[in-house]
Amino acid sequence: MFITFEGPDGSGKSTVIKTIYERLVNEKYNILLTREPGGTPIAEKIRTVILDNENVALDPRAEALLYAASRRQHLVEKIWPALKEGKIVLCDRYLDSSLAYQGGGRDLGVENVLNINLFATENTYPDLTIFFNVSPEVGLSRVSQDKKRVADRLDNESENFHDKVYETFLELTKKYKDRIVVIDASKPLNEVSENTYKILKEKLNELS
Ligand code: TYD
Repeated sequence: MFITFEGPDGSGKSTVIKTIYERLVNEKYNILLTREPGGTPIAEKIRTVILDNENVALDPRAEALLYAASRRQHLVEKIWPALKEGKIVLCDRYLDSSLAYQGGGRDLGVENVLNINLFATENTYPDLTIFFNVSPEVGLSRVSQDKKRVADRLDNESENFHDKVYETFLELTKKYKDRIVVIDASKPLNEVSENTYKILKEKLNELS
């Protein structure tokens, strides 16, 4: 079972995933928690290149290819082996982030970005994707209030960029409505966390 979590910056998804992971581990589920871009030493190196604020000259297509390269490495080294061992894989961001950020935000087109990603992933789609729905205004204001968080190259993009990312995410939830479940992430975190947990448990019970 391969489950991904998506949403705009500041949607609270990373915090929620951690609490859900801990709950499921306590219930003795065999789980791998991982994140994109990154998840392996090579993929983490690619991550630092992508998110480095100094890399202002990074071309949009090069950016999309780097995300896809990092995704591939992560699949080969970590996700595919874990799935083979029968683990449940929880991944913080995956394919849909590329479709929304590079396809929509960078105007490369969802289809173009999907194509390079189908090559990179050999058509590995998640079984379930949870989309944390929060407007870019709310998301970015949470990011700027979080003192511990250092804004990266993507966080620092324009409002217009983040609006396009969000619009594309919403389109994806319609296009892939059988795969993507939408959660209202403007609610308090404990409520978002509880709703996410319920959806995951339903899916896991379906399978057992
Ligand atoms: P990260 O700090 O992991 O963001 P978050 O905590 O919000 O998940 O940084 C990842 C950034 O990279 C985030 O702004 C989204 C962006 N991104 C893409 O643009 N394309 C992608 O394919 C992925 C996986 C992430």
